[in-house]
Amino acid sequence: MDPDRARLYPFVSKGEPPFVQIARAEGSFLFTPDGRAILDAAGGAIVCNIGHGRREIADVAGRALAEIDYVVPPFATPARVALVSRLRERWLPPELTRVLFTSGGSDAVDAAIRIARMHHVCAGRTGRWKVIGREHSYHGVTLATLAVGGHEKRRHGLEPLLAPHPKIPACYPLRCDACHGHCNLSCADALESVIAREGADTIAAVIAEPIGGSTAGALVPPPGYWPRLAELCRANGILLIADEVMTGFGRTGRRFAIDHFGVTPDLMVGGKGLAGGYAPIGAVFAREEVVAPIADAGEEVMFYTYSAHHAACAVADAVLEVMEREDLVERAAKMGELLERRLARLRKHPHVAEVRGRGLLQAVELVRDKASLERFPAEKKIVSRTVAIGLTRHNVFFYPGGGGPAPDVICLGPPFTVSEEELDLMVDALEASITEAAR
Ligand SMILES: Cc1ncc(COP(=O)(O)O)c(C=O)c1O
Repeated sequence: MDPDRARLYPFVSKGEPPFVQIARAEGSFLFTPDGRAILDAAGGAIVCNIGHGRREIADVAGRALAEIDYVVPPFATPARVALVSRLRERWLPPELTRVLFTSGGSDAVDAAIRIARMHHVCAGRTGRWKVIGREHSYHGVTLATLAVGGHEKRRHGLEPLLAPHPKIPACYPLRCDACHGHCNLSCADALESVIAREGADTIAAVIAEPIGGSTAGALVPPPGYWPRLAELCRANGILLIADEVMTGFGRTGRRFAIDHFGVTPDLMVGGKGLAGGYAPIGAVFAREEVVAPIADAGEEVMFYTYSAHHAACAVADAVLEVMEREDLVERAAKMGELLERRLARLRKHPHVAEVRGRGLLQAVELVRDKASLERFPAEKKIVSRTVAIGLTRHNVFFYPGGGGPAPDVICLGPPFTVSEEELDLMVDALEASITEAAR
């Protein structure tokens, strides 16, 4: 399609970052119709864990569609049974026994919120409805997920439609007034005061990304953070939901980012990496005790039409099999360390406030003035410019991020199959793009 015509579609942005047509994808690269190779340093939307263009996965999708196009989600199909078995045997913490499939991340988080509320209602605790979220977080774009999320830009204008769920601060030491760079867990302790203020008997759940995604940019909390949240939830009868849509299935060098912290949540949400971009599918994983009151009450968690779609399950199963066969979680940890080492030199860059992340989820926060952390003027659109320069002059695609007090963040989330040479290319291109954009 002609790019000028494509721009007329309401859901295509007005050209920042520049509109690009992609004809083909392979390994870490995207190819335009005229053959230009673009290094995908973002793995799409931090999705493409096993790399692009795997023929064997396309074949699985074709075979699955030829077998069964569609059945109503309460019916089991062989692919769904195989995927649940694989997840339970090789991927999930043993406590998370229940699996519900959805069509993507937002609707999976939405379903997790529904399950948390139903859990309490079915157990007679009808007053518990609030889901405490965090500032500078992202959980999706349905109205419920926007309501529990802290992405100001995406909530903007929709506020009257969003239920007033309480928020606690993000764990963001760089700009934290309480710890000034050395986290003392006051951000986690804030949960205690919010519970006291709201009343524990009004709270259904707490939701957070174990390692922040692109909103504030790969925020990694200190080791004590998640155990503290878990302890406060347990003591107050509140369910703990870990949103692993971006971090799950190896992205941070462990199967799930929560594994870094030794905590098992009550509910966990997956998406992106579950099928690595080869099929639209998300999932909610829950403890038996979370689902028991719902089952005992004879209630059901209503499905989406495309929940547990046979071909999507077959593709996810095949993608996870590739991850296991090629030890890609270990590879994400190893390549993540190499990426971190290469990015370290950007700490000296006059416009880089911080480089942070874990595994192959890394972010760089940009500022106009390093000493005062003053941001670039909004109209300079430093992130869009950096991404545009990366794409047009260096043929590398970075993921634009940022929100709230960290509005200018560039994220990297390449496929786990990325090579060392490709890491060199992306870090060189990032450094040059930031310098050129800041001029
Ligand atoms: C942590 C997190 N939760 C939820 C979502 C929403 O997922 P989706 O875009 O698949 O609806 C995202 C997407 O980036 C995410 O990063």
